[in-house]
Amino acid sequence: MATSKIVRKKPAAKTAAARSAAEGEHSLQYLLFNASGNRTDRWSELDIVAGNMVSSNLSKQATADLHARAKALITEMAGLERYWAFPGIALFNAALEALEDSDYGYFAHVVARISQSLKDESYRCTANAWDMDGDMDAEAVNMPDFQEQHEAKRPYFEVLVVTSHGNAARHERVRQAFRAMRRPDDAFNYELVFMSNFQDAAIATLVNFNLQAVVIYDGFAYESDLDFPEVDEFIRRSLPVGADSMARENYAVELAKLIYRMRPELDAYLMTDRGVEALAGQTPARNVRRVFFHEVEELMELHLSVLAGVNDRYDTPFFENLKKYARRPVGTWHALPVARGKSIYKSHWIQDMGHFYGSNLFMAETSATSGGLDSLLEPTGNIKKAHEKAARCFGADHTYFVTNGTSTANKIVVQGVCKPGDIVLIDRNCHKSHHYGLVLSGAQPLYMDAFPLVPYSMYGAVPLQSIKQTLLQLKAEGKLDKVRMLLLTNVTFDGHLYNVKRVMEECLAIKPDLIFLWDEAWYAFGRFSPFYRRTRTAMGACEDLADRYHSDAYREEYAKFKKSVGDIDISNKKALSSRLMPDPDQVRLRVYCTHSTHKSLSALRQGSMIHVNDQDFNEDNHEAFEEAFMTHTSTSPNQQIIASLDLARRQAELEGYELVAQQILLALELRKQVNHHPLISKYFRFLDPVDMIPAKYRQSGLARYGDPGVTWKTVADAWAEDEFALDPTRLTLFCGTAGYDGTEFKNLLADKYDIQINKTSRNTVLFQSNINNTRSATAYLIETLVKLSRQIDTRLARASKDEKAAFAARIKSLTEDVPDLPDFSHFHDKYRDNPNSKTREGNMREGFFAAYESKNCEHIKLFSKEIDDRLRNGPDLVSANFVIPYPPGFPIMVPGQVISRGILNFMRELDVKEIHGYHAEMGIKLIKMDQSSAKPKARAKAKASPKASPKAAAKKS
Ligand SMILES: Cc1ncc(COP(=O)(O)O)c(C=O)c1O
Repeated sequence: MATSKIVRKKPAAKTAAARSAAEGEHSLQYLLFNASGNRTDRWSELDIVAGNMVSSNLSKQATADLHARAKALITEMAGLERYWAFPGIALFNAALEALEDSDYGYFAHVVARISQSLKDESYRCTANAWDMDGDMDAEAVNMPDFQEQHEAKRPYFEVLVVTSHGNAARHERVRQAFRAMRRPDDAFNYELVFMSNFQDAAIATLVNFNLQAVVIYDGFAYESDLDFPEVDEFIRRSLPVGADSMARENYAVELAKLIYRMRPELDAYLMTDRGVEALAGQTPARNVRRVFFHEVEELMELHLSVLAGVNDRYDTPFFENLKKYARRPVGTWHALPVARGKSIYKSHWIQDMGHFYGSNLFMAETSATSGGLDSLLEPTGNIKKAHEKAARCFGADHTYFVTNGTSTANKIVVQGVCKPGDIVLIDRNCHKSHHYGLVLSGAQPLYMDAFPLVPYSMYGAVPLQSIKQTLLQLKAEGKLDKVRMLLLTNVTFDGHLYNVKRVMEECLAIKPDLIFLWDEAWYAFGRFSPFYRRTRTAMGACEDLADRYHSDAYREEYAKFKKSVGDIDISNKKALSSRLMPDPDQVRLRVYCTHSTHKSLSALRQGSMIHVNDQDFNEDNHEAFEEAFMTHTSTSPNQQIIASLDLARRQAELEGYELVAQQILLALELRKQVNHHPLISKYFRFLDPVDMIPAKYRQSGLARYGDPGVTWKTVADAWAEDEFALDPTRLTLFCGTAGYDGTEFKNLLADKYDIQINKTSRNTVLFQSNINNTRSATAYLIETLVKLSRQIDTRLARASKDEKAAFAARIKSLTEDVPDLPDFSHFHDKYRDNPNSKTREGNMREGFFAAYESKNCEHIKLFSKEIDDRLRNGPDLVSANFVIPYPPGFPIMVPGQVISRGILNFMRELDVKEIHGYHAEMGIKLIKMDQSSAKPKARAKAKASPKASPKAAAKKS
């Protein structure tokens, strides 16, 4: 960066029109996901070009070429720079004018300062960044502080001001007026960004990650002078009312609503000079914190409100109290010797524990729940406040922190909601915690089958049609009142996203009080992107549905639907093929979701949350839930996990939008680079929607994220309607074509390249992109895949004919000889209330506890003749316990389930080491069935199953 002072030679007068100039080519990708990253890249490139321009020995032609390049770059940036406070119009124009005047020295100086400030984010720390003639403060660099050597910097944010009043000069005066109100002890710094119309305000909300608040003055136009037809279409579609039917006097209120839909965490302030009292009474949008009468003297109030609003999100009540507690001189006559660190720092043998973890960990450890702290089991103080803030952040009515992971969160909800005899529709492939939860609660699982993805040895998700059919069959058998809950995993391990809104809507049309538990263990981040939130997250969809069912428009729509479709039952073919709508007078929204906050946000391991949006969370239901919470929650919950949940919430509310946008962008970029790389794509490729979702569930036809012409809008359109979408941030790499099985490839990456991945299947590995991934990490992964591909290339080039044949055979085995994936078979009649019922719920709890008596059980070896004979002749093979192979990590046998030929084959072909509930030396654990208990029907079913595959037979021998 230039350090000596460089002074502008002779500013030339230029018209504003000349400056506003062309906008260049604004790819939507550029705009939406990586506006700030791309800006930094472009300023860096401009910096290099500008640096070259001041070189002394340039030919005339070279200078002209560089000038043209600089002009092209700066023109491309011109339209977009308005959306950020830094560098701002004044600085931007200073650079532009210097270039136009061929004052290359000053041009290079300004561009270098801007580029550097954007790169090291020093503009967040010092107002000098805006002053080209002032010195930059060397300390003002916003670097990550891994050594914890500095006090945390005062956070910086930007406030969007939407007003049609005034010009650039007036905006500058207002900016200075706000700066003048700053006080040294303010918790935050902020700068203003001005927009003068609806479209620009919406775009700024989407692209400017620094925004934390929006001030909207009444009275502005709709149209921007820039032309972004796709963004405009997106805006129009997101508007609660049509853009064309929106009255101009309602623009301010509608803009606030739109902003809420895009970024619900942003605070909005309305400034109006008409009927302020009436407007305030209307509560026009959930994000409006205050309505001000439009007067200059309100500026200080506004300034203080903006700071207070951000502070409300910044505030972490439990963490703050824990820090205070850690500083107090407390004598502990309680459990937990490590508290205050005395048992460690005085020790002759474990001092290194203290040195490694640092003293704060121990100072902040305590068994106490008083003295400024709170009890997780019965929160009344700062944990209660932290819960309330988390509920606001995640769009729930109530949030509960869980310190033993979502494994526990799921059991709490299942037990809290279900009682013995209730029927729960559940994806068989759900995490094991749900199955155990059902055993505990005594509810009867009705297992639903997800569509299989046999070529990759994995399952997808449960089609809506089969859920509807099952509910209608239950209705036909008079059992709908016993049905309590639908339990699904969203997003699945491999990235399948349900159309949550549609699933709930259609199920509620059949059973209006159905409870939903969405296991969003991997998906806490989804809330912070408008692409996921409204259709594909539990809380977002629930909020949208609540608004929908309260509207008059819905009543009208429903009346038409009812007239056309008639009664919804199994004999009504039209009902099955229609998009069902619930009766607004009957429907109850009862939605629960669980998040492993630690899996996708910045919480410590095991930090999870339960979010509740249950219209009937009344005294009885609440009490049952609290009982379940008490059942499963430790009386010594970890204080650090609770504090980290409080902090993860703070981060998500203040920068979740930015981090998730970057996470998506990195994933899309990685997909593109790998799948289009001439060398890598010979052996590896990331699976796309076309591979992971059958066409009938992808109504939009969206096939690949990297296909030419696929923009974020194509994706947004597809996601709004398709039955299933593929989360681009869960990246399944097909490695079978490189001759690696999943486990082998995972080990290779970990052992040789220090790359850790998430899960494997027979021929794939799963990379999960996260809010912590960086562009360098992406580059390293690409580099590694290039290296590995080159090695395979070289090996094959030198290989003999036999070696080549062996490689081809290996690939065939990995990609074609894949085992069939078994569906859930059925519960044994002994564990069915009515064996003749067409629906297949079962009393799993009875099967589970039957196995507690060893005299009830037997073991038969997996590869024995005996097991094949039993399968042929009976009595039925009935599993005594859960058998859960890792991967895939869900039970392929549950207690009371009859083992089919398909399941046996799958077990025999499994090439994983870890199978919970199965000990090869003992065999499969079965509940003993006497001959008479083997029902002819059950035997016939087992016989009808396919024969053992040749591969299994070979393995056996
Ligand atoms: C879908 C699903 N739900 C729940 C869990 C359990 O979460 P936790 O590890 O937080 O206990 C997992 C763990 O992998 C999971 O994949």
